[in-house]
Amino acid sequence: SKGGYEHFMLKEIHEQPRGIKETLTKRLDENGRIKLDDIHLTKEDIENISKVYIIACGTAYHAGLVGRYAIEKLVKIPVEVDIASEFRYRDPFVDENTLVIIVSQSGETLDTLAALREAKKKGARILSITNVLGSSIARESDDVFYTWAGPEIAVASTKAYTTQLVSFYMIALDMALKTGRIDDAEYKRMIEEIKLTSGKIQHIIDQDSKIVEIAEEIKEKHNGFFIGRGLDYNTAMEGSLKMKEVSYMHTEAFAAGELKHGTIALIEDGTPVIGIASQEKLFEKSVSNMKEVKARGAFVIAIAQEGNTEVEKVADRVFYIPKVDDILASILTVIPLQLMAYHVSVMRGCDVDKPKNLAKSVTVE
Ligand code: M6R
Repeated sequence: SKGGYEHFMLKEIHEQPRGIKETLTKRLDENGRIKLDDIHLTKEDIENISKVYIIACGTAYHAGLVGRYAIEKLVKIPVEVDIASEFRYRDPFVDENTLVIIVSQSGETLDTLAALREAKKKGARILSITNVLGSSIARESDDVFYTWAGPEIAVASTKAYTTQLVSFYMIALDMALKTGRIDDAEYKRMIEEIKLTSGKIQHIIDQDSKIVEIAEEIKEKHNGFFIGRGLDYNTAMEGSLKMKEVSYMHTEAFAAGELKHGTIALIEDGTPVIGIASQEKLFEKSVSNMKEVKARGAFVIAIAQEGNTEVEKVADRVFYIPKVDDILASILTVIPLQLMAYHVSVMRGCDVDKPKNLAKSVTVE
């Protein structure tokens, strides 16, 4: 049941604070350390990994892009991320020293399952992140991390995505601690920071009326852009997919620094550009990209961390997320974008939970 919500998508957006809490705190032991019962990677196993390959489709692929950042930064192993339907056909370099991480909410996506089998045949160890107990992908993996998001009914993935992000941070922190690549104090501090994201998401959801106002202003547009740098670029991709999927507005995501190499030609008077600028160390650069599009007539909607009010000089509208570590910001920045897609969809009279031409689980190639 929709538990009093008008749509499953909205209900599931609201379930994210709890989903994150479940996924994280139920896996902490009495000393506050991460305990992963279904993952059996020893210190030695991790030290033998020469490369990590993350494979998924759609929103799960976007989670994988954030996962790459977390693993490279914390565990210091090179990571590649691939779309499952691409991975299979390009003779990827995978061997027994490759750890393949498969991400799939349903655990039944056919392309993702086929990629898993292909990687297994090449000798890779398979770790899957999935939401469905005993799913095909879970059964065929060596190690499994279950996202405890609860059943996801809406076609558009929301709570599965944020719990996938938390899963990646936990896996990366665990690998980093086992191999001594992170010190105890920093490890503990990061776990505390992840814990806090649950309340911060709630704080964002509580400001939904601000998102409704923004949605009102863009609801009639035919196209728009999402831009960002680093982790914000990954969030831009997810925000754009969500908008296309549920509201049928044509949007594209671009790395903010890449705009001037072509895309900026598409900006017209009033074109909505959602600029994500959560990364403190890239903030100035992101703001200057917003200036570039603003100068060409764009209607700029910025997402920034609280306190970075400088962005108001450039943007037409600003939505602030609570202060957060750069590396964890993706858990928060996606929330206003999910809500924006939802409201635009409702305003346009679309079938939010069952967008046209789509299925929840894609079991064809
Ligand atoms: O069940 P999966 O995570 O394997 O599904 C992958 C994609 O089909 C899925 O994330 C899709 O992109 C969503 N509808 C996006 O909201």
